Amino acid sequence: MALVKSLILFPLLVLVLLVLEWIPPTLGKESAAKKFQRQHMDSTGSFSPSPTYCNEMMRRRNMTKGHCKPVNTFVHESLEDVQAVCTQENVTCKNGQTNCFQSRSNMHITDCRLTGGSKYPNCSYKTSQKERRIIVACEGNPSVPVHFDASVEGSA
Ligand SMILES: *[C@@H]1O[C@H](CO)[C@@H](O)[C@H](O)[C@H]1NC(C)=O
Ligand SMILES: *[C@@H]1O[C@H](CO)[C@@H](O)[C@H](O)[C@H]1NC(C)=O
Ligand SMILES: *[C@@H]1O[C@H](CO)[C@@H](O)[C@H](O)[C@H]1NC(C)=O
Repeated sequence: MALVKSLILFPLLVLVLLVLEWIPPTLGKESAAKKFQRQHMDSTGSFSPSPTYCNEMMRRRNMTKGHCKPVNTFVHESLEDVQAVCTQENVTCKNGQTNCFQSRSNMHITDCRLTGGSKYPNCSYKTSQKERRIIVACEGNPSVPVHFDASVEGSA
């Protein structure tokens, strides 16, 4: 009886272990909305970043793994205010898609640009703070930012 049970239980155990192996990558997959937050949101970041802000943040937010991401923008506004851009002015994205939206007002942002002499794994960035209208691509229901498209000089 014990033998029969273990003959049944063993394949079951193997199956359970196989399933468990499969789950973490699925759960660990970062959604486009979460990726946007990791790469572009720094609500608590001060609006007078130190000259090394980009060097630290690009590393901390995993954009210097495998290669140095050449340009990236961080937005220092609340997530709520940035998500609200998806209900503002509908504009065409750089790639021609029509799901981009421009913020009605200027936002505090920091642009990070890889310096010329920088070589992976030493990713060295120039930090520039700006007040600009931001343009983001939005997707989903509710519609949320999934891509940072550009920033533009605004009048207000
Ligand atoms: C960066 O990657 C590491 C390892 O892959 C992970 O543990 C960490 O949570 C990531 N950091 C962010 C901000 O996503
Ligand atoms: C944005 O405007 C374009 C062109 O007018 C339209 O095709 C598109 O459906 C609009 N996108 C959204 C998400 O409203
Ligand atoms: C990166 O920087 C470290 C410390 O400054 C230095 O020792 C190393 O040689 C550099 N690596 C590259 C590939 O430039």
